[in-house]
Amino acid sequence: METNWSSHYAKRTNRMKASAIRELLKLTEKPEVISFGGGLPAPEVFPVEAVAKACDRVLKDYSEKALQYGTTEGFNPLREMIVADAKKRGLSCDIDNVLVSSGSQQALDLIGKVFIDPGDKILVENPTYLGALQAWNSYECDYITVKSDEHGMLPESLEEKLKQHPKLMYVIPNFQNPTGISFTLERRKKVVELADKYGIPIIEDDPYGRLRYEGKDLPSIAQLDSEMRGQEKGQYNGNVIYLSTFSKILAPGLRLAWSIGAVEAISKLAQAKQGVDLNTSTFNQLIAYEVGKDGFIDQHIEVIRKVYHERRDVMLDALEEHCPKTISWTHPEGGLFLWVTLPEGNDAAKLMIEALKENVAYVPGGSFHSLGGGDNTMRLNFSFSNPQTINEGISRLARVFKTHLK
Ligand SMILES: Cc1ncc(COP(=O)(O)O)c(C=O)c1O
Repeated sequence: METNWSSHYAKRTNRMKASAIRELLKLTEKPEVISFGGGLPAPEVFPVEAVAKACDRVLKDYSEKALQYGTTEGFNPLREMIVADAKKRGLSCDIDNVLVSSGSQQALDLIGKVFIDPGDKILVENPTYLGALQAWNSYECDYITVKSDEHGMLPESLEEKLKQHPKLMYVIPNFQNPTGISFTLERRKKVVELADKYGIPIIEDDPYGRLRYEGKDLPSIAQLDSEMRGQEKGQYNGNVIYLSTFSKILAPGLRLAWSIGAVEAISKLAQAKQGVDLNTSTFNQLIAYEVGKDGFIDQHIEVIRKVYHERRDVMLDALEEHCPKTISWTHPEGGLFLWVTLPEGNDAAKLMIEALKENVAYVPGGSFHSLGGGDNTMRLNFSFSNPQTINEGISRLARVFKTHLK
């Protein structure tokens, strides 16, 4: 008898859907297509030499550790390095606050596993990171969305929604994926204050904070929370689980990220991780440690910032030069993405078919909206393509707009 697999799936599996967008994005792999679709770092800035040297050293000097299983929480010297870096940036914590994971994507999934019961409400920005929605959909949660403007979540809307008792709230305060928008200091403080008032834990996802091209660095939500609690020294035991990753500052292929949170929450996440993969790749953790231990990552971030800053400017200038005035877009101060809004009544997913005929691609914005809507929006990535390709791609996109927009 042939197995009918779908009749054996768990109920929650119904919430996992093949995305039409992903199918479309497969077409963008053709070499003639200029894709602003993925969230990929530029391969030109991968620190190949530093990683090669670290590989040599790790295999020569630490092979018995690097090729062995490791502890679930992570390789201690790497955790110490993460603690030192967090302190430098204003968040006091210790090694027991830190869990190393196989990408922040795994941390998001572990958070779902530990915290979400079917029917729980999760408060999110609208739009928000698609990967978080995908991770949490399979835990059968519902979403509550908060209105935002170009300064972040609107406090009145946030307070009103917090009264609906969400289980968690999820924010990306720096150069958000997908919009590129950042929270101002006042809005960050408001988030901390309101989450505390209603007793709702915050998941702060910060893959892009180090990639700022203009303006001043702002404190993380976790830092503001620790200051509000008078925990400026020693262990962190506040209300925030802070996520960051080596994906955008070293290489996503390492699949290496970290979470910082209250010891109790971090221990529970580690217990959940045991059942998932026992430990994050020991080999990759030792590589990251070897690459980072003498301050190389800070220098390397300067290189990345220079390259992406130029690419952001080229994309903004090209949009200004080629696009009809009825279209608007965000001016992100950092990160990898900007967000385009078409006049109402246009459908960016349908328009993608025309864009692909012109060999240019983007991600239609609808899929970043947890409750639907946003059909007239799209996300453009500016980190991956070189300046010349960005110019060509935007002029192709502008041709599509001029011919097909309502
Ligand atoms: C907001 C956000 N969170 C998490 C991730 C996942 O990062 P990682 O590569 O560490 O899994 C991404 C990747 O693009 C992201 O944009």
